[in-house]
Amino acid sequence: LPRFEAFPILAWAAISAFLLACQTAAQPIPPSYRDIGPILAEHCVVCHSGNNAPNGLRLDSYDNLTNGSETGPVARAGNPADSEIIRRLRGTSLPRMPLTGPPYLDEATIQKFEAWITAGLPAGPDPTLAAAPIPRRPAAGEPVTFADVQPILLARCAKCHKDDGKMGTPPEGLRLDTLQRVLAGGERLVVLPRNPRASELWRRVQGISHPRMPFDGPPFLTDDDIRLIRDWIAQGAPDQKGVPAPIPTGASIRLRGILDTPRSVDGVPFRLAPYTRIDRAPQVGSAVELRAIVNDDGTLVAERLRRR
Ligand code: HEC
Ligand code: HEC
Repeated sequence: LPRFEAFPILAWAAISAFLLACQTAAQPIPPSYRDIGPILAEHCVVCHSGNNAPNGLRLDSYDNLTNGSETGPVARAGNPADSEIIRRLRGTSLPRMPLTGPPYLDEATIQKFEAWITAGLPAGPDPTLAAAPIPRRPAAGEPVTFADVQPILLARCAKCHKDDGKMGTPPEGLRLDTLQRVLAGGERLVVLPRNPRASELWRRVQGISHPRMPFDGPPFLTDDDIRLIRDWIAQGAPDQKGVPAPIPTGASIRLRGILDTPRSVDGVPFRLAPYTRIDRAPQVGSAVELRAIVNDDGTLVAERLRRR
């Protein structure tokens, strides 16, 4: 090469080498999975583990994280900007993670993930780090609390049924991310404690009411998850400590099903009141819509019964 062309290249090479040396000297040891695992355990594993892991992405071990999701790797060694996990943490890909946020992870923590990816995803001393405290599930007949049910709702339902979820506002005003919100229902009640058959939450996951939930299924919930939700409602929808929910006196319920006796829909009995409106002469066997109010003893008083 002529000298006047080689000079800038050599100068550039020397400067880069110098800068790299400085950087290497100044850089702290990059984070390894040992630093990342506990963050995942605290903020992500409640949803990203087990059968219901969203998009098949399990974040409960080094191998599962680096295996990625149904659509491929979520962390690309050396390339944080092209890593879906970073895009989700920063909210440049939606919904932003953790789905339970806000709050989201702080800037320093997100940068730790970026540094780990830039460094090539080092496994570090303990890639088997116990990141997944997998709770034991109650067997059929055992007491169920909201602590058993919440992981299912978070992993499979909350992406739509929360504020700023996948559908913007939560469908039917129904938020399913906390106990208080599940019990409050949306435009109407979806859990009538001690009465799964009258509870839209169970009816939708069982597929008795349509459209079946989760709306983006199949896959729908496993039989065991559906059974757990049913048992939880049947046991009075207890909170994390096992204290049953109060009767939601005065709340409104809507049931769409078959009038199987003159005074029951899908086996759920109701009473008529002087003000009950009956439309289009429903007969036993008709598909009907019942709108009812919960009495203080948990029974239903019809406001309107309509053939569909
Ligand atoms: C409340 C449950 C929940 C929590 C907690 C949660 N996620 Fe998610 N995550 C989801 C759901 C649901 C989806 C699928 C959303 C969609 O359809 O795009 C998802 C999707 C993702 C994806 C996209 C996977 C892909 O390739 O499609 C990444 C990456 C991700 N989450 C990372 C995280 C990280 C990291 C954390 C913790 C900081 C976290 N998530 C916490 C529920 C959760
Ligand atoms: C992909 C988005 C999405 C997911 C995921 C999803 N839902 Fe829904 N949900 C909807 C939409 C949309 C509707 C309104 C559908 C309709 O009734 O026309 C709805 C309606 C409902 C209703 C009826 C509310 C009422 O007042 O009648 C219940 C109950 C429900 N969902 C429960 C669940 C449960 C439980 C899960 C998780 C197992 C879930 N959903 C997952 C989108 C979703």
